[in-house]
Amino acid sequence: MTLQSQNAVAGEVTEDSKSGSMWSSRMAFVLAASGSAVGLGNIWKFPYITGENGGGAFVLMYLLCIAIVGIPIMIAEVMIGRRGGKSPLNSMRELVKLDRLSPRWKWLGGMGMLASFLILSFYSVIGGWALSYVGAAASGTFAGASTEAIGAMFGGLLADPKALLMWHSLFMILVIVIVSRGIRSGMEKAINILMPLLFVLLLVMVGYALSTDKFAEGFAFLFNPDLSKLTTEGMLTALGHAFFTLSLGMGVMMAYGSYLPKNVSLVKTAITVSVLDTAVALLAGLAIFPLVFANGLEPGAGPGLIFQTLPLAFSQMPGGVLFGTLFFALLVIAAVTSAISLLEPAVEWLTEHKGISRLTGTLIAGISVWLLGIVTVLSFNVWADVTPLAMFERFEGKTLFDLLDFATANVMMPLSGLFVALFVGWFMSRQAGEEQLALGNGLAYKSFMFVLRFVTPAAVLVVFVNNLM
Ligand code: PHE
Repeated sequence: MTLQSQNAVAGEVTEDSKSGSMWSSRMAFVLAASGSAVGLGNIWKFPYITGENGGGAFVLMYLLCIAIVGIPIMIAEVMIGRRGGKSPLNSMRELVKLDRLSPRWKWLGGMGMLASFLILSFYSVIGGWALSYVGAAASGTFAGASTEAIGAMFGGLLADPKALLMWHSLFMILVIVIVSRGIRSGMEKAINILMPLLFVLLLVMVGYALSTDKFAEGFAFLFNPDLSKLTTEGMLTALGHAFFTLSLGMGVMMAYGSYLPKNVSLVKTAITVSVLDTAVALLAGLAIFPLVFANGLEPGAGPGLIFQTLPLAFSQMPGGVLFGTLFFALLVIAAVTSAISLLEPAVEWLTEHKGISRLTGTLIAGISVWLLGIVTVLSFNVWADVTPLAMFERFEGKTLFDLLDFATANVMMPLSGLFVALFVGWFMSRQAGEEQLALGNGLAYKSFMFVLRFVTPAAVLVVFVNNLM
């Protein structure tokens, strides 16, 4: 998508990398924000955590979290970004100055940056799995393969640290090359075409799932809530996933918001992105669970779930080699567009220091993430028994990868989201908030502010406190 020079509108945007550039339209922002939001979270993580947490009740909780926590916080984040017009850290600085608030708020930006750094370290390893499956699908490895053979293939990949490291490195190189060239060159045009294609392909997969005799069972697993299956830990996972899947709590949406023209409706835009993101996750669930039941697999199989089920569909369906290759290629692309938004904040921050060019900044950040990724690589094999927090019952059996995932998605993101809600709801200038929201000052505005000030923070706190006890 092309970024037009609209200097008049972009009055507040002063940074070099951004001067005079604005999203050409609302659609352009929606595409870029969905590029960040739609990724492994939707297609890899959502199905496997749904399987681990018993299905329907977890899905219901997740949908509730999207509606009353995710969407309001997305609106708040984009609002901060658009009003500040700079990188997340500097936008916070700017608003704090404008509204005469404590400069300590800017740490919100810092926490998000740390979280995005940690997430990318394992995200890239999973992206590497997807990358290796593109080749496997294209070379016909899945054609006619049995459930056991496909399971063994995935097990073999995890057990091989060298292979995992190679795919992880390849994925990071892709991300580093794109980020070092500045994201807005060809990437957004690609998203424009590839995201709808991914959507269509997911529909094909759901179509295939419909042709198995277990579609009804898969559907019921997702949408028939059995509240007795919902644990407090499951609730926290659902909350954390609402943040993870919408790319919240790390400044990504703030950064994108700084490019959003002033005349675009924040509320409508945030709802559009969230609905798209949720639709992709639900479609992935509908494509996968019928296959799980049709092939006698375990819904709670863990992080390998999609890598053990989807190849089964490709092994059996007509055109499986083509569809399989296309599917994993699109999954990689969806993962890359999310990964670049995860690396960007750290790079932006580094280049704000004197003497660090974009290339140097990308290399420093990218190589550090790559190094940290080795921890995740080893968590699946050599360090599979390293469970440093096993003395606490709830962390028993949790590997370093599990802990990284838990610390970021279930602790850091919800916490920083909570502070974003509190900042916009209680501290930021009311008048500025009213202007940004453009809902007038009637019922719509009042209800939104009520949700942001009370409902959203209370929901986050209740889930947190419930979980600590
Ligand atoms: N939302 C992305 C996904 O679902 C992951 C992500 C999280 C990207 C946070 C950016 C920031 O895969």
